Amino acid sequence: MSDILKKIGETVDFIRRHYNEPSQVGVVLGSGLGHFTDELQVQKEISYNDIPHFPVSTVEGHKGKLVFGKLGNKNVVVMAGRFHYYEGYSIEDVVYPIRVMKYLGIETLILSNAAGGVNPAFNVGDLMIITDHISQFSINPLIGKNEPQFGTRFPDMSEPYKKELISKAKAIAADLKIVVREGIYLSVTGPTFETRAEYKMIHVLGADAVGMSTVPEVIVARHMDIPVFAMSVITDLGIREEENVITHEEVLEAAQAAEPKMTAIVKHLVQQL
Ligand code: HPA
Repeated sequence: MSDILKKIGETVDFIRRHYNEPSQVGVVLGSGLGHFTDELQVQKEISYNDIPHFPVSTVEGHKGKLVFGKLGNKNVVVMAGRFHYYEGYSIEDVVYPIRVMKYLGIETLILSNAAGGVNPAFNVGDLMIITDHISQFSINPLIGKNEPQFGTRFPDMSEPYKKELISKAKAIAADLKIVVREGIYLSVTGPTFETRAEYKMIHVLGADAVGMSTVPEVIVARHMDIPVFAMSVITDLGIREEENVITHEEVLEAAQAAEPKMTAIVKHLVQQL
């Protein structure tokens, strides 16, 4: 057995000793978006610090635990706090929990993040359903020896975000009278926010939003054939405001303000899976 499969086996065994029901849906909560867990009937919480082979989360606004709970008739496992490459973790560590979630049984992965608006029509606080991504400015987590148990050497990426889930989310948003945008997310490593020239370049390349997460996790999920849905909160507008200086505080504030809308959509989506 390869080292990675052995590690995952140990992690899953540990988790199973604390909570033994298979999870159907995995949810990754981005910066300032931690309150989704309030919607769950929580069954068990396990701090990342206690889980063998898990990295330890450090960024402000991230709680750093796995939360197991029920939402309607679904068993959900939530990553309250994710790992970012800019924190200094290896890219393998960043995506490790996604691989673990696959072995916990998830059949769908839902991710959220805070992102910079690059589409000039966007406003701070907008929600954007991610329809596609550009990964070239971040690290591909599949570089290295392929593990065939996860998936193929050269995974297809023609539909990283499942169209059926996008349609469902749009219908839910319309029912709830929540305005949602759709667009392309370009991933960077961070931790610097973009220069004005970089925001312009990202716009020219065809992206609508830019952020420091999500794409490595999506690549690994798709490698393992997990259907994915992802959504951004637009927390700042690098492209538009000439005098705009972006701070982490402003990003967290905008994400927190938009959180109830995002949570409502994800909650209904999980119940409709
Ligand atoms: N750029 C990159 N990542 C981000 C941004 C941004 O403007 N806003 C929130 N996350």
